[in-house]
Amino acid sequence: MDNPFIERRNRVASALGLKNELLLIGAGQPVALPENTDQTYPFRAHSEYFYLTGNNFPGGVLAFDPKDGANGWVSFVAEVTDAERTWEGRVQLEGTPITVLEPWLTSRRGRPLVLLGEPIRGVVADPTLSGPAREKFRHARRAKDAVEIDTLHRAAQATVAGFSALSEAIRPGVTERQLQIELETGFFRGGADRTGYETIIGTGSNSAILHFPPSSRTTATGDLLLVDAGAEVDRYVIDVTRTYVVGSNPDPFQRDLYQIVLAAEEAGIAGCIVGAEWKELHLRIATQITEGLIRLGLLLGAAETLVERGAHQLFFPHGLGHLVGLGVRDASGLLPGRERDQSPKLSNLRMDLPLEENYVTTVEPGVYFIPVILNSPSNREKYHDCVNWELAEGHLNLGGIRIEDNVLVTADGPVVLTKEIPKTWQ
Ligand code: GLY
Ligand code: MN
Ligand code: MN
Repeated sequence: MDNPFIERRNRVASALGLKNELLLIGAGQPVALPENTDQTYPFRAHSEYFYLTGNNFPGGVLAFDPKDGANGWVSFVAEVTDAERTWEGRVQLEGTPITVLEPWLTSRRGRPLVLLGEPIRGVVADPTLSGPAREKFRHARRAKDAVEIDTLHRAAQATVAGFSALSEAIRPGVTERQLQIELETGFFRGGADRTGYETIIGTGSNSAILHFPPSSRTTATGDLLLVDAGAEVDRYVIDVTRTYVVGSNPDPFQRDLYQIVLAAEEAGIAGCIVGAEWKELHLRIATQITEGLIRLGLLLGAAETLVERGAHQLFFPHGLGHLVGLGVRDASGLLPGRERDQSPKLSNLRMDLPLEENYVTTVEPGVYFIPVILNSPSNREKYHDCVNWELAEGHLNLGGIRIEDNVLVTADGPVVLTKEIPKTWQ
């Protein structure tokens, strides 16, 4: 693909179907740290702006006038200051100076404005137009193009390097922080620009905290160790989870739980085919996990009934996955025109749409013993007949197991971008 941005702009223009409305997409401005210093949080251009420009700098605005045909797109860019050149080594981006945006708008005064990306100082748009436009834009960029898929492969390679370094460092007595250092060093050595999100590492009972930030806690022999992390390359992110047992073979109960999660993950991946309804896949896998927990004696009753009542969420309290790519939560949500399904059994779902060719999604089932969920008086009452509570209580310190891969949906079936990262215990 010579210039992916031309193709993406054409695709978005036709998806939005604008006639008289002007479109503005803001990159955003840096956000100052709270202490009133000259420091800011690391800048990330809004993904809608980045997707159509490839620019990751503040102050830009991409504008589109559908009445100007193929020349309708104008990329307004901020002028780089001497201070930015001096302190950050910034160079001037190609484009039309941002000062020209005002006359551009003045000469089109009275036309309705659709504003996407970040808010733009001094621009008041019509919120009733922007919401539906964002929904259409999000849908138009769900299928990844060749450049995006190539970038994701590079992010996957960097992630493989990180997990390889991590697995060599796992032994009893290391801290979660030490493991983070090895993992993230591997990412950077493998070509990462940064981590795709804050690395999650939990050992022992910390592994049941879904997004646990690494601490000074040391691993002990026989502990579960859950690591959820991914590298970012050119703004594209990989999102992988592996769960290990530290310094020993798993005990029989850990092994049984792991087999349930692994089989669920494999079935989930196999289900990532063109046309698959994500909601149905999620429920199918939730039912499979529930059947596994019934076999272990933890859940009591019939799997379908338990899922209907939402009892699977006591042990699997999140969705099966989400789209990933331009950010770790990339363009998930609803198919345009759909309302959120309010059914309690689906309260953790992050998306409700059919998978299409070139979508990239995570598949990430898990089983956890989360004290706040399992000790909740209302859960104990609501699900008194669904759980062997004595057995569950005996495992409240065990932690949790999640396995997560990233899957490219193709006409030939699912392609696992992260398959080179070994799933232990196989
Ligand atoms: N890495 C965060 C998540 O999987 O949701
Ligand atoms: Mn993850
Ligand atoms: Mn994820």
